[in-house]
Amino acid sequence: MCGIVGIVGEREVAPDIVAALHRLEYRGYDSAGIATVDSGALRRRRAVGKLSQLAALVTAEPIAGRIGIGHTRWATHGAPTTANAHPHQAGPVAVVHNGIIENYRALREELTAAGRNLETDTDTETIAQLCALLMQRGLDPEDAAAATLARLEGAFALCFLFEGEDDLIVAARRGSPLAIGYGDGEMFVGSDALALAPLTNRVAYLEEGDRAVIRRSGAVIHNAAGEIVDRPIRTVSVESVLIDKGEHRHFMAKEIHEQPTVIGHTVAAYVDAARQRVVSPAEALDFNSIDRLTLVACGTAYYACHVAKYWFEAIARLPVEIDIASEFRYREPPLSERDAAIFVSQSGETADTLAALRYAAGKVKSVLAVVNVAESSIARAADIVLPIRAGAEIGVASTKAFTCQLVTLATTAILAGRQRGAIDAAEEARLCDLLAEAPRRIAEALTLEDGVAALAQEIARARDVLYLGRGAMYPLALEGALKLKELSYIHAEGYASGEMKHGPIALIDDAVPVVVLAPTDPVFEKTVSNMQEVMARGGKVALITDANGAALAGADAWRVVVLPRIDRFIAPIVYAAPAQLLAYHAALAKGTDVDQPRNLAKSVTVE
Ligand code: F6R
Repeated sequence: MCGIVGIVGEREVAPDIVAALHRLEYRGYDSAGIATVDSGALRRRRAVGKLSQLAALVTAEPIAGRIGIGHTRWATHGAPTTANAHPHQAGPVAVVHNGIIENYRALREELTAAGRNLETDTDTETIAQLCALLMQRGLDPEDAAAATLARLEGAFALCFLFEGEDDLIVAARRGSPLAIGYGDGEMFVGSDALALAPLTNRVAYLEEGDRAVIRRSGAVIHNAAGEIVDRPIRTVSVESVLIDKGEHRHFMAKEIHEQPTVIGHTVAAYVDAARQRVVSPAEALDFNSIDRLTLVACGTAYYACHVAKYWFEAIARLPVEIDIASEFRYREPPLSERDAAIFVSQSGETADTLAALRYAAGKVKSVLAVVNVAESSIARAADIVLPIRAGAEIGVASTKAFTCQLVTLATTAILAGRQRGAIDAAEEARLCDLLAEAPRRIAEALTLEDGVAALAQEIARARDVLYLGRGAMYPLALEGALKLKELSYIHAEGYASGEMKHGPIALIDDAVPVVVLAPTDPVFEKTVSNMQEVMARGGKVALITDANGAALAGADAWRVVVLPRIDRFIAPIVYAAPAQLLAYHAALAKGTDVDQPRNLAKSVTVE
């Protein structure tokens, strides 16, 4: 995860920026950088490695200025070189950025055609170059930044700094959080309140689509429609800053809303955006030399495996078995050198998953681990480690780890498809572009929170809830039901839509809401038939779909939540958001302990 900080200060800012970056270092530290405006000129220092390298550089070669921006970066694809470190500069513009610019290739072509000479192939430089071009064409810095932002597609947070402007930072949030800090005659901006903690405890959080023009006198915030808006300034206590739930009441809410950012990091870690190709440590395994892949995990991580089965089979034409770790290890399944096995675990410490891995190790060609904790026992016992880039997950119910597991498994399926000749370069490029779109799409889905919360108020009154889905939405139905039951203690079950009439339909009456997860895909019509079977028996259907699905089937539903229209490949990633929000708000309505539901533990290290 990258961290951003900016200061429009009263004194030299470099020491404060370096200190703030230290507080963001937990997000990652393969390179870092700082830019200031000193006597009108932009100055930069960037260094590879831990932040101490940048601190040493700034000591050896001091950088003056009362205004500046800084960035700490965590390795994604490509070498963590000085050239790739932020801030990026193009003429009079310096930019720090966190996230993915989806349309950067098109912008690069446009910029090159306009005579701009791009020095790196990073998406961040594209932002700086575009802004510089617009200034060259006569726009002032503030308008050039606004016009640049209007051209960017993706989920990101960023800050602009300008040559000759000693009193101006433009910051913007789309998908990734940004906090504005208010001082006395000084202003700050940072990825979270923790970065700003010693500088100020008066913080306002930008909302989705906001752009802030920050000067010593204060911040003028424009919403996505360009209107000037007020965002409430809160006084945050040191303790709450250290615990750092940010603008959220619970870690779970924070982690749900971090998904555009961390999914972006996971995509960036496994997709070379310039070449539209997967790059992964999994390349050490030749997927063409195996006949079967086994995916093993517990709980939510198991449902990630279940989704991945659909991807591996469709994209790589590779037969997949999925298993719950506690069953796998005692079933003692036959395994051979023509098998590979992937073990998925957020904590990397789940006892059953670790034991299952140890059972498979030595029998199969290769053991892979998809983990959030890179130094965990499961990571250490595997042949190949695929870290997800979710960052620390503190809420007991897994949310952002689930979607980052999905992204990591999706890229592995694409890689397997390439190696097995099941997809060509054009299809790989298409799938990579779809994954790059996922952060923005999930950010859009998260803007529907109020509607989902209203539905959750009604769901919270039910004793039993059913979730239905088809294809890769079936495991999502299982995951949605698990989230609801573990957080709100409401009994919930997930079923494959087509299974309804083979038994579960007996449960249907008007007291049992049925949540149907159904993007418009080739099996949508079939799901609609299953919905109608439910409604014909007095059942209340809450349909989660896209605008097309709502037009086709929403009229008879009890409630409809309309998500963006997306390709079916990334639908499981995006549809996780409403399922998580529904469980979260049902738990709020029930007054349960959201971050630590009863009887549960974050890391299950016993059988
Ligand atoms: C549910 C949840 C659990 C975990 C499971 C595996 O919200 O978090 O079902 O997914 O206990 O944990 P890890 O992924 O740490 O192996």
